[in-house]
Amino acid sequence: MFKRISALVLAGLTAMTMTACGSGGSGGSGGGGGDSITMGFSQVGAESGWRTANTKSVQDSAKTAGITLKFSDAQQKQENQIKAIRSYIQQKVDIIAFSPVVESGWDTVLKEAKDAKIPVILTDRAVDSKDTSLYKTFLGSDFVEEGKKAGQWLVNEYKDSKDPVNIVELQGTTGSAPANDRKSGFQEVIGADAKFKIIASQTGDFTRAKGKEVMEAFLKSNPDIDVLYAHNDDMGLGAIEAIEGAGKVPGKDIKIITVDAVKDGMQALADGKINYIVECSPLLGPQLMDLAKKVVKGEQVPARVVTEETTFTQEQAKQVLSSRQY
Ligand code: AHR
Repeated sequence: MFKRISALVLAGLTAMTMTACGSGGSGGSGGGGGDSITMGFSQVGAESGWRTANTKSVQDSAKTAGITLKFSDAQQKQENQIKAIRSYIQQKVDIIAFSPVVESGWDTVLKEAKDAKIPVILTDRAVDSKDTSLYKTFLGSDFVEEGKKAGQWLVNEYKDSKDPVNIVELQGTTGSAPANDRKSGFQEVIGADAKFKIIASQTGDFTRAKGKEVMEAFLKSNPDIDVLYAHNDDMGLGAIEAIEGAGKVPGKDIKIITVDAVKDGMQALADGKINYIVECSPLLGPQLMDLAKKVVKGEQVPARVVTEETTFTQEQAKQVLSSRQY
C-alpha cells in the first residue's frame, strides 16, 4: 500500500516538474538572469502570405535557438500591439520584439519598456521615434530601396516610349513604414520623367480582398490604365482577379509590379500575369534570435541590420519557383 502511494506521489512530482520545464520558465529576470531567454513578440497580424511566412520564421527560429516565445497577433491594430507590449513588461520578459503596424505613436510604451529595463528590438518595420535609445536595433528591409527598384524597372520598360504612362497604385496599410517608403522610393525614380503619371492611389491594406475591391473601383473610374504598382503580392493578386473580371489581360493590357515574392506571387509572375517582383524577405527569424541573445547578454549590436534582397523577372521566377521556401 505504502509503495503504491509513494509511486503515485513520485509520478505526481515528475509531472509537475515536466510542466515547469515545458513552459520554458526563463525566470523572466528582466535582464536575462538565467540561461534561457523569454521573448515577447507582437506581430502585426496575418494580413498576407508574407506575414504568415514571417510568423513561421520567428516561431521556428525561437524553437531552434532555445528561446521561449510569447507570441501575440495584433490583427493590424496599434492598440492591440501597445496592450501586448505592456503585458510583456508586466510579465518581466527578457526582451521584447515587435513589428510596428504603423510608424508613429510608440514613444510612451517604448519608454515604459526602457524604464523597466527590458530591451526592445524592432523587426520588419520601423518607428519614427526621434529617441533611438528606445530600441536596441532595427532588423528589416530597406523599403525605400524596394520602391526605387520597382520604379527603375518601369523606367527601363518604357525607355523608348514618349506616350504618357498611366499608373494606379495600391498602397499598403496607411501610416505603415512599407507603405510610406515604397511610395516615396517609387515616386523618386519615376518623378524624373513627366510621362509617368500616378492617376489613382489608394490603400488596399496589404490584403488580397481589399486589393481586389480597390482595383475594381480604379477600373470603373479609369478606362485607360497602363500599369499597376501594388505594394505587396497579395494586393496584386486580388487586383488580377479584378482585371480579369473586367475582361482585361493582366501582365499584357495592364502591366503589374508588386513587392514580396511569396510563392503565389512568383507563380503569377511565372504565368505572365505579373511583370516584375521586388523581393522583400520574411525570413527574419534566425537573425532576430541571434540579435536577441547578444542584446540580453549586454553585447553591442549594430543599430540597423538590413535584409539582403533581390528582384525577379518572369524568366527568373520560372527558374526559382520550385525551390521557393514560402
Ligand atoms: O512589412 C512588410 C509588409 O507587410 C509586406 O510587404 C506585406 O506583404 C506585409 O503585410
